[in-house]
Amino acid sequence: MRINLYGLGYVGCVSAACLAKEGHDVLGIDIDAIKVNLINEGKSPVIERDLNKLIQAAIQAKKLKATIDEIRPAKLSIICVGTPSNDNGSLNLLYLKNVARQIAENIRESREFHTICVRSTVLPGTIENEIIPIIEKVSRKKVKKDFGICMNPEFLREGSSVEDYYHPPFSIIGEMDKKSGNLVASLYKHIKAPLIRTEIKIAEMVKYACNSFHALKICFANEIGNISKKLGMDSYEVMNIFCEDKKLNISNSYLRPGFAFGGSCLPKDLRALLYQAKENDLEIPVINSILSSNSKQIEYAFSIIKKIGKNRVGLLGLSFKPGTDDLRESPLVELAEKLIGKGYILSIYDREVSLAKIFGSNKKYIESVIPHLSSLMKNSIDEIFKESEIVVIANNYPGLKRNISKLSKDRVVIDLARIFTPKEAKHYTYEGISW
Ligand SMILES: NC(=O)c1ccc[n+]([C@@H]2O[C@H](COP(=O)([O-])OP(=O)(O)OC[C@H]3O[C@@H](n4cnc5c(N)ncnc54)[C@H](O)[C@@H]3O)[C@@H](O)[C@H]2O)c1
Repeated sequence: MRINLYGLGYVGCVSAACLAKEGHDVLGIDIDAIKVNLINEGKSPVIERDLNKLIQAAIQAKKLKATIDEIRPAKLSIICVGTPSNDNGSLNLLYLKNVARQIAENIRESREFHTICVRSTVLPGTIENEIIPIIEKVSRKKVKKDFGICMNPEFLREGSSVEDYYHPPFSIIGEMDKKSGNLVASLYKHIKAPLIRTEIKIAEMVKYACNSFHALKICFANEIGNISKKLGMDSYEVMNIFCEDKKLNISNSYLRPGFAFGGSCLPKDLRALLYQAKENDLEIPVINSILSSNSKQIEYAFSIIKKIGKNRVGLLGLSFKPGTDDLRESPLVELAEKLIGKGYILSIYDREVSLAKIFGSNKKYIESVIPHLSSLMKNSIDEIFKESEIVVIANNYPGLKRNISKLSKDRVVIDLARIFTPKEAKHYTYEGISW
């Protein structure tokens, strides 16, 4: 396939050389004459293992050529230009917008459908709100009808980028039309990795979720390392054992957006670790920020309820997670107290806690620590449905979803437990906490 590829930095050079190796006819375009000349001489403009050999082979096979301005018609344009930080931290889209204008001018007179594939990292909404309007205005063409656009984020790491190109964790194509998605997907037919096709905005966001998580992992490991060192341990032994846990640590556990954590372990153990770090004059800002982030999530849930502007709230769930009657440090107790404090008329139903109120080991806790909440507890979900204008689904337990169908459609549903997807809840006025 004839491909025009814009931006011959790390991502562009690797993509261009690998696509050329697979037999595509690649024209690499860059504003930097030194890079263009080096590539045409068969040399890599960036120091990267295996890249020199690949570029040399591609130039010899006449599958790759670099240019500053001799652009030709092509079926696909790939954009790999830089998206650096501005001084205030915002994303600099200047290079991307320039290339968008250039591509739009190139396709203006063409009658062929053209596909544009963005590999540069851009914030969610950039392609739809910033790039498509430029292309439509300059080319006088319509997206999906005359041209297509995809977001195809790159996951390579400098130092192992050629290896990473062929062995990515997955390939993601964010698309608006199937035809363009299919064309970009055809570039990956040799690559043995899951291929995920989704919306453009989601593809843009996934890249930021990945990079933020990688950065978080590094800082977390460093902070655990610093504490371990200070206390005379080998941090590598600690983290190697930590990584052996593929069930809770290196897994998808806990990676579901939702309400705050609580219970008898996580808050207490975080506080103890923070105290020990302080005693040892160690700053651990990442771990230190976890409890305040958790409190913010409780405030966020409260603000969602507040903006509804209704007064009678039914809370379905009080314990810190479903399937337990444990109320110690339950963030739902905190939410309930906040609602009472602000004058809401609250009623609460929690199957497990109701049972505990009668016999469980938490009977004493309920009677002595939260008698003010205990008196608001109802014996059935139907009572909650009858009394509440807003129903807050806090814990998801078996059968709850079925029960919710009895709820009259004029009630507002606030979902902290992802019992519904927004699509499933379309008959209600519905809001999920983080979706
Ligand atoms: N470097 C990485 O490891 C990596 C990994 C994944 C994603 N990314 C993302 O990929 C994008 C590119 O990153 P990079 O490190 O390859 O950038 P880079 O800065 O190394 O290269 C960008 C290239 O674009 C060129 N350019 C600028 N304006 C141009 C124009 N109008 N026409 C043609 N070329 C133009 C520049 O001259 C430069 O050679 C960024 O959005 C980055 O965030 C980078």
